[in-house]
Amino acid sequence: MLVRPRRNRLNAQIRGLVREATLSPHHLILPMFVQDGEGKRTPITSMPGQARLSIDMLVETAQQAFALGVPGVALFPALTDELKDSRGAESTNSVGLLPRAVRALKAAVPDLLVITDVALDPYSSDGHDGVLVNGHIDNDVTVPILAEMAVAQARAGADIVAPSDMMDGRVAAIRTALDASGFTNVGICSYCVKYASAFYGPFREALDSAPRGGDKKTYQMDPANMREALREVRLDEAEGADWLMVKPGLPYADVIRQVRDLTALPVATYQVSGEYAMLKAAGQNGWLDYDYALLETLLCLRRAGADIIFTYAAIEAAKLLG
Ligand code: PBG
Repeated sequence: MLVRPRRNRLNAQIRGLVREATLSPHHLILPMFVQDGEGKRTPITSMPGQARLSIDMLVETAQQAFALGVPGVALFPALTDELKDSRGAESTNSVGLLPRAVRALKAAVPDLLVITDVALDPYSSDGHDGVLVNGHIDNDVTVPILAEMAVAQARAGADIVAPSDMMDGRVAAIRTALDASGFTNVGICSYCVKYASAFYGPFREALDSAPRGGDKKTYQMDPANMREALREVRLDEAEGADWLMVKPGLPYADVIRQVRDLTALPVATYQVSGEYAMLKAAGQNGWLDYDYALLETLLCLRRAGADIIFTYAAIEAAKLLG
C-alpha cells in the first residue's frame, strides 16, 4: 500500500482542517515613522509605500490599521539634525515629537496599543544607540538615559516600551524606573536578540540614523551566534521583560524557534525594513507575487514560533486576510 500524504491536501476544506500555523491581523504590529509638521507625508525611497508622517497623518493611518484589526503600532521619531546631540538629550523631552505623537494617538484611538522605541539612535548626532565616550559606546552612561526616556514615554501614554538598543542591564533599569514612577502596568518588549544586520539599511534612511562612524557590532549580536541568543533570553527574562523579540525575522527563523522553546514569555519578531524592501522590489519587478509572498513570510514567522510580528506591511496583510 502506498502511503499518500496528498490525501490531506485534497481540497481547501481538508487543508483548512489540518493547517498547523495561523495568521491573523491581531498578530501584527505596524511600525511607523513620525515627523514634525502638518499634512506631511514624506515617502521613504527604499521602502515603497512607507513614509515619514506628521502626527495628523500618523493618526489617520493608525486608525485605518486599527479598524482592520491590527491592535497596535510601534513608533519611531524622525528628528531634524538640530535636535540631535551626542547624549540624545531630546529623548527625555516630555513635550518632544514622540510624546506628542503618543498623546495624539491615545486621544484618537484609546484602545490602540502604542509601543515606543527606547534607544538613542533617532536622537544621537553619532547615529548610535548609546552614548559614545572616547570612541566606545558606554553601556553604563547610556542605561540611565534609556530609563528616563522610557518613563517620559510612559507618562505620554505608551502602553509598552521597547528597548532596541542592546545595552546590558537596561531591562532591569527600565522596569525599576517605571515602577518607581507608578507605571507598573506599562510593559517592556525587549529587543532581546537583535543581530547586527544589513537588513536595517532602509530604516536608517527613513530616520537618517545611520552610524556616523563605525558599526553597531559591539552591542548588536553576531549573526553567527545561537547560544548567545539563549543567554540574552535568560537575562532579559530575569530582568523582567514581558515580551522577547528576535530581530530581524525571516533569516533568523531558527533563532525564533529556539527562543520559543526556551521561554514561556510571548515571543515577538520584526520583519525589518530590508525584508520589506526585498519583497517590494521583487514584487514591483514582477519577479514574484507580492501578496502571496508577503502572507507566506508572515505565516512562516508564525510557524517558526512568533506570537507577535512587527511588519511594515501590517495594513496590506490585514486587508489580504480580511
Ligand atoms: C535602532 C533600531 C533599528 C531598527 C529598529 N530600531 C536599526 C538599527 O539598529 O540600526 C531597525 C528596524 C528596521 O530595519 O525595520 N534602535
